[in-house]
Amino acid sequence: MPQQVLKATEPSWFHTARYGLFIHFGLYSLLGGQWQGREIPGLAEWIRHYAQIPREAYRDLAKSFDPQDLDPGAIAKWAKQQGFRYLCLTAKHHEGFALYPSKVSAFNSVEASPCGRDLVGEFVQACREAGLVFCLYYSQAQDWDHPDGLEAYREDQDKDFSRYFLEKCLPQVEELLTGYGPIGMVWFDTPLSMTQGQAEDLRKLVKTLQPSCLINGRIGHGQGDYLTTQDRRLPAQPIKRAWELPATLNSSWGYRASDQNWRSPLEVTRELLTVVSRGGNELLNIGPDGQGRIPKGSKACLEVVGSWLKQAGSAVYACDTIDNYVYEAPELRFTHRPHHLYIHVLDPSSLVGQEIPLPNIANRAVAASWLNHDGPCTLRQTSTLEGDSYWGLRVPEKLDPTSVVLTADIQTEEAEFLQESLE
Ligand code: GLC
Repeated sequence: MPQQVLKATEPSWFHTARYGLFIHFGLYSLLGGQWQGREIPGLAEWIRHYAQIPREAYRDLAKSFDPQDLDPGAIAKWAKQQGFRYLCLTAKHHEGFALYPSKVSAFNSVEASPCGRDLVGEFVQACREAGLVFCLYYSQAQDWDHPDGLEAYREDQDKDFSRYFLEKCLPQVEELLTGYGPIGMVWFDTPLSMTQGQAEDLRKLVKTLQPSCLINGRIGHGQGDYLTTQDRRLPAQPIKRAWELPATLNSSWGYRASDQNWRSPLEVTRELLTVVSRGGNELLNIGPDGQGRIPKGSKACLEVVGSWLKQAGSAVYACDTIDNYVYEAPELRFTHRPHHLYIHVLDPSSLVGQEIPLPNIANRAVAASWLNHDGPCTLRQTSTLEGDSYWGLRVPEKLDPTSVVLTADIQTEEAEFLQESLE
């Protein structure tokens, strides 16, 4: 399948892309989940909140923020090679520190730190060069630096949220959407007690400045262009509207030095396929350390997924759900695009040499091949004793031991997926 150049100005990029790289990076990356020699439980990027770090002590961290090894060009190039189609960077997380020279708040990577770099600008440029759609994360309600920013679980405080909203949030979003050319989407998070009116104002601002920029569901009050699921929670059913699953590779978004509990490439590949087979996108996270290095465990995992995508990407990008296949088939996932039905065998080694029964598919198959296996793909097309159509897909005897999920590409005469109803 020829690679399409995705354009941030054409919102359809989101559907085609299917697989995005989330990058959580900020002052919390320097701490790696520890404060004053103690491991602080909870999400590592929430360390200021969980360890109750005083404002000035947290601000002091900026003085050692100088990620010499952060190379946006290399990261974007690597991400593209691993099959990602978009990249979403935390321009400002709940901590309130901006990764670009904001005129609105000096608490940023240029003015408050020796780093002196516009990291948003560097990533924008790098993504453009690598051919990734650039997106930015912006924490619109929680801001633990601004005296009037919200803080989860402490909402009873006497705050003038609208002051923060008008003096930091809206102007920063405006800076971000006017300073860097086309942005694919703004990824808002944790709206907490923001009002309907505030969410509408935020949406209006984004759409006025960049009409084609997408907005995720966490803007709140139904103002998003697509649905964002709960973190790491996979919908059990296909969803008809556009949606996205944000997911991690270990237990945190921000860097946690002690968390080496990486998910396996097999688990991640299965999850990605499950997401796409239910009509969604996956936004998978890395949390570079304070120097800007990507943890080895996440790199290794994504590279295996990436090599599977090199072979089987046509069964992911721009693919859709077939809705529910009429029979239970927990060992399989289906994705679809016109004239192609992709059948993914999640654990092929348990089915070696066996024929997988697929009754009641009404399409006529005109060709069958494996996307990540060299040998022939045998698909038997016949009918059952009851007169229903029947496909039998035989799993090869010898599998490549390094390959993850085995994927068949069944070309069909008809563009749409057709199935016989059981009635
Ligand atoms: C949660 C967390 C946040 C993280 C986000 C990613 O909302 O508050 O730290 O950035 O999930 O989806």
